[in-house]
This record gives sequence, structure tokens and C-alpha cells, in this order.
Amino acid sequence: MIFTVAIDGPAAAGKGTVGRAVAAHFGFAHLDTGLLYRAVGALVLKGAEPVAAARGLVPEALEQPGLRSPEVAQAASEVAVIPEVRAALLDFQRGFARREGGAVLDGRDIGTVICPEAEAKLFVTASAEARAGRRLAELIEAGLDASFDGVLADVRARDRRDSERAEAPMRPAEDAYVLDTSDLSIEDAVAKAVARVAARR
Ligand code: C5P
Repeated sequence: MIFTVAIDGPAAAGKGTVGRAVAAHFGFAHLDTGLLYRAVGALVLKGAEPVAAARGLVPEALEQPGLRSPEVAQAASEVAVIPEVRAALLDFQRGFARREGGAVLDGRDIGTVICPEAEAKLFVTASAEARAGRRLAELIEAGLDASFDGVLADVRARDRRDSERAEAPMRPAEDAYVLDTSDLSIEDAVAKAVARVAARR
């Protein structure tokens, strides 16, 4: 059985949480595609050339610690504007999407560019303030030093870069179901996403 769930949306809107829960519910595999860009960004911070880093990326690179730091997020969104970097990561994502047994991919351009034929598409979003509050809690939980204003500025800068870039800008696919999680509990957001995917099966 081949079935792709495409989940897009801005940073810290709940894509990852919703994606993992939907994958677990249906027994599908899950890929956080942001990790691909983060892994390339991390290599660039160590001096690698972005396109070479993307072409040589190995799946094990997605498991290294430190990919969640704000510095790596920033580097990721900078390499993500380079068309050759995006092209180098395309086949891996498409192969994952069409693997046997079903797949959930979350990112920025899954429903629009990577898997326009996905059986189910969700655009998970929330206000910038709600997202900054969640990201701050995660950073503090991870023992990192951060302030609300700093995180809010980062969230807005990344939103701008992700939605204004020429190549694969972040936007909802025309046929995506828009799920605003600003005022939803995790349980409610997951329940809505699961219901939407179930309706497509
Ligand atoms: O989702 P996450 O915050 O981990 O993504 C890091 C960065 O990678 C994003 O800000 C975005 O620039 C880029 N990205 C992308 N396309 C994706 C996933 C992530 O451009 N499908």
C-alpha cells in the first residue's frame, strides 16, 4: 500500500508532533524533512560547501545531536534557498514518500513540490507568538539559553525567508487542509489531523 501524507507549515506550528502522531496512528513511516536541511546547514557551519554537502548527505547524518539548535536552524534556512541544494534532496524525499506501507513527510514544500500527488495534505500553522512560546519552552527544556523576544524574532525571520524565497516557497497547497493550532491542545490538533487523513483513505 502506497499512501503519502504531506504536512507543511512554519516553524514550531506543531507539524512534527502532528506528523509523528499521524504516522503512529496509521502505522506509516515518518520523515521530518527539516532535518535534511539542518544536516546540510550543520555541515556548512563546519566549513562544507552547501551543494556538495547536500549531494553527499547520508541518512545517518539526520541522527546526529545538535541539529535542533537555533544556529543550525538559521543555517538550514539559508542553505534551503539554494536551488541545487533542494534538487539534491528531492529523490530521497520522493523515494521515502512512495515507500511501501505509507509515509508521512513534514516540511515546507511537501504538498506543493515534493509530493503534489500526495493522498492527504495538511498545512499546520499557528500565530508567530504561539509558535515562539512553544519553541522557547523546547529550548529551555533542552537546557539552552533563550528569550521570548529573541525566539520571536528568529521565528519571524525564518518565516519571511521561507515564504519569500523564489524556489519552493512555503505556502499551503491548493488542496491542503489548513489546521491552525494556535488555540488547540496537542490532542485536539492530532485528532483533527487523523480525521482528515482517515477521510482520504
Ligand atoms: O522544520 P525545520 O525548522 O527543522 O526546518 C529548518 C529549515 O529548513 C526551515 O526554516 C526551512 O528553511 C528549511 N526547510 C525547507 N523545506 C523543507 C523543510 C525545511 O526549506 N521541506
